[in-house]
Amino acid sequence: MQVNGVPYRSIWLDANQAKVHVIDQTRLPFCFETRVLTTAEQAADAIYNMIVRGAPLIGATAACGLYLACAQDASDQALKHRATTLLASRPTAVNLRWAVQRMIPVLLAAPTAQREAKARELAQRICDEDVDLNSAIGDHGLELIRSLSEDRSGATVHVLTHCNAGWLATVDWGTALSPIFKAYDAGIDVHVWVDETRPRNQGASLTAWELGAHGIAHTIIADNAGGHLMQHGDVDICIVGSDRTTRTGDVCNKIGTYLKALAAHDNRVPFYAALPSSTVDWTLRDGLRDIPIEQRPSDEVTCISGIDHAGAIQKIRITPTGSAAANPAFDVTPRHLVSGIITERGVCEASESGLLRLFPEQNT
Ligand code: MRU
Repeated sequence: MQVNGVPYRSIWLDANQAKVHVIDQTRLPFCFETRVLTTAEQAADAIYNMIVRGAPLIGATAACGLYLACAQDASDQALKHRATTLLASRPTAVNLRWAVQRMIPVLLAAPTAQREAKARELAQRICDEDVDLNSAIGDHGLELIRSLSEDRSGATVHVLTHCNAGWLATVDWGTALSPIFKAYDAGIDVHVWVDETRPRNQGASLTAWELGAHGIAHTIIADNAGGHLMQHGDVDICIVGSDRTTRTGDVCNKIGTYLKALAAHDNRVPFYAALPSSTVDWTLRDGLRDIPIEQRPSDEVTCISGIDHAGAIQKIRITPTGSAAANPAFDVTPRHLVSGIITERGVCEASESGLLRLFPEQNT
């Protein structure tokens, strides 16, 4: 996607040195700044502190982190140690494990002297593939929006989304936002209700920024407003991303997604999750029981960040001192509340048979 007319990905390898460039997402929408990562530890730190975030980008950053690890010390012991550090950085998005499991056996099988070059090639491939997967998700999701537009004789299609599942959350295109970008580019009249997404406000800060930069009409709403809008017929479709989806179609995503799915179900609003197959955890069947839910620091709830009159980013407290705050970062939407899953291979029912129809190689 373009930032001020310059094409960007959310992460890229330096052309000449063992360095990885990322966009600092903690500074958006106020400042567009990039950062350079030179060690696997810095990559793990960037994931934990959400300089990079979003399941596919977390996976891509882990892949790039393993490349940096090989440049630091390509021995078996050092590589395994740094892989463990990366794996521990955030627990819910399965793309992290997916990327590490894809790279580590190949790297350990290679001669030590060749590991850095091999890791670079694999990390670059994971990044490039992510762009293609998300573009394909956009093509399939576009058809859902097109059909709603036709049903409405070309009147505006109102999409509600939660958190940020745009290009910043992936290497490019995004998952939930990819169909929206493609619909807009195809000339479909589309408007997006953007959940602010407390506590970290990824919707208000990142999704709104992405949509605005693309020229797409959007309105930020408090997280509590979605149900009301659905009751009044103001939402035609909900599309969200996912951090981990079970083989049976339970969808884990940013905290608050479940409440939107409940409201959508009660109001017969179609509710779709858009995700690449790297987000499916084929080892799990019961999302509520088995998906680890990240508990983040309580100051993300008790404090809020914004820009002051002097243009400085400030963090201020909004709660009484001494009040406890809990911060579960994700929730699970059970499959019966999900109308369908938009993948790179097409749209399927949120069920084991639906997913296996598109990914028969997982039928083991
Ligand atoms: O805590 P975050 O910002 O990493 O959470 C991100 C989400 O919940 C996204 O919806 C999900 O990763 C899908 S990203 C394409």
